[in-house]
Amino acid sequence: MKLREQADEIFAWGLTERDDPVVFAWENHSRAAAKVAEEIARNCGLDTERAYAAGLLHDIGRYKGPGTGMMHAIDGYELLMEKGLPEIARICLTHSFNPREKVQEITLQDVEKGVFLKDYMSKIEFDDYDKLVQLADYMAGAHGITTIERRFCSVLWRHGLKNPAEDLKTLYKLKEYFSEKIGKDVYELFRKEIAETPFKGVPGKLSFEAAGKDIETNDEEI
Ligand SMILES: [Fe+2]
Repeated sequence: MKLREQADEIFAWGLTERDDPVVFAWENHSRAAAKVAEEIARNCGLDTERAYAAGLLHDIGRYKGPGTGMMHAIDGYELLMEKGLPEIARICLTHSFNPREKVQEITLQDVEKGVFLKDYMSKIEFDDYDKLVQLADYMAGAHGITTIERRFCSVLWRHGLKNPAEDLKTLYKLKEYFSEKIGKDVYELFRKEIAETPFKGVPGKLSFEAAGKDIETNDEEI
């Protein structure tokens, strides 16, 4: 089976596993990340299937439902290792930590898994696919493709950040890295999508129209 089909199949399974209102945010976010990763990859000579699969499945660990917090990274990694997809599995871990020293700030209830995560992150160097999904994650909102600025506001609103200015600089460096590779600003690739993505409410509160009714939620699960 092709990687793209395999990724679609795993994602579809994840959606049925996780049956709650927030699933809309998670689905939209993951599909947007896949699209961003694939399109940038196409424009800079990276493998588009791998980029698509990595974007779509980076948060697959959230299939266990809301409230998994940082464990979603490990749950996703374990699931994809079982499926025989180590290159995509690593993205579940690397997308959340940029720079990778950020992993030191987290504490997991499962001490053993926390040790594994920190050890793993200390031994790897980010490759272009790790970087690509870190960027795609920040251009993927709960309503679709968006800008780093908008998504950053949402993260800041919901979680607060210790060093927002530093975090923002890190993200812009990432965007700059791919803009140089493709020979134009990354946003140019997604002008239409960014313009069409609805902006509803304040950054941390979302409303969806689904099944004929408005569902209010927040996007802390993406
Ligand atoms: Fe994500």
